[in-house]
Amino acid sequence: MTNVMIIGGGSGMGLALARTVLADGMDVTIVGRSADRLAVARTELERTGRGRVDTVPADIGREEDVAGLFARVKRVEHVAVTAADATGVYGRTTGVATAAARTIVDTKLLGAWLVGKHGAGRVTGSITYTSGINAYRPNGSNTIVAAVNGALASLAYGLAVELAPVRVNVVSPGWVDTPIWDQLGMDKQAAFAELAGRLPARRIGTPDDIAQAFVSVMRNGFITGTVLHVDGGHRLT
Ligand SMILES: NC(=O)c1ccc[n+]([C@@H]2O[C@H](COP(=O)([O-])OP(=O)(O)OC[C@H]3O[C@@H](n4cnc5c(N)ncnc54)[C@H](OP(=O)(O)O)[C@@H]3O)[C@@H](O)[C@H]2O)c1
Repeated sequence: MTNVMIIGGGSGMGLALARTVLADGMDVTIVGRSADRLAVARTELERTGRGRVDTVPADIGREEDVAGLFARVKRVEHVAVTAADATGVYGRTTGVATAAARTIVDTKLLGAWLVGKHGAGRVTGSITYTSGINAYRPNGSNTIVAAVNGALASLAYGLAVELAPVRVNVVSPGWVDTPIWDQLGMDKQAAFAELAGRLPARRIGTPDDIAQAFVSVMRNGFITGTVLHVDGGHRLT
């Protein structure tokens, strides 16, 4: 039994969420593909948190891994999913390899569905997925990611009905400074500065902004079948 399982918890927003719930004394299981990345995260978390930390290497896109994960934890109060393999999916649709598009569908959408499938009967409180601003503000170079993020909302609505009273929601971040940007090969700081100037919040998001939103959704027993936008007002620009 663990309190919170974070699939994608080895870095970025997932790791920030792990820090937050551990500081509250909850036990956490963090999941990702790289055992090395998980080990580094665990060392950091064990230095700072009060709860217990478990790590499980698993690929959310592989059904046997997701089934094995839930068989191992047996029961879990809350699951948060931040995992996504977005390698090679940014750029105009004509230039994106179909294999890369399949990978984001497999990891971010079907992986989320596998969590519902194998988490059924084992998750007692809530499942929270992570979508993203590009579902609502596509920019011509992220179409498959936008489609996956949009579909996650419908997945959550469906599972919120099917798995009730377990609550199922989505947190939709705006731009947040995390390691995922390092894969994109762009001038991150210039892009962040330009967007921050246009956002109503006048800044880019932090992993902790998103972690706080996850905690709110997990804790509030009346939130289900909802997309919570944590984007600094990006949808209004
Ligand atoms: N950062 C932003 O600006 C932004 C904006 C909107 C939405 N989002 C979304 O927010 C979520 C979290 O991203 P982040 O920014 O925190 O990035 P991140 O630091 O790259 O975190 C993603 C985590 O997911 C894990 N992961 C990737 N593929 C996996 C798989 N197949 N199975 C299990 N774990 C996997 C990665 O670890 P391994 O590689 O070791 O598996 C990594 O720890 C993503 O869904 C992303 O699309 C991000």
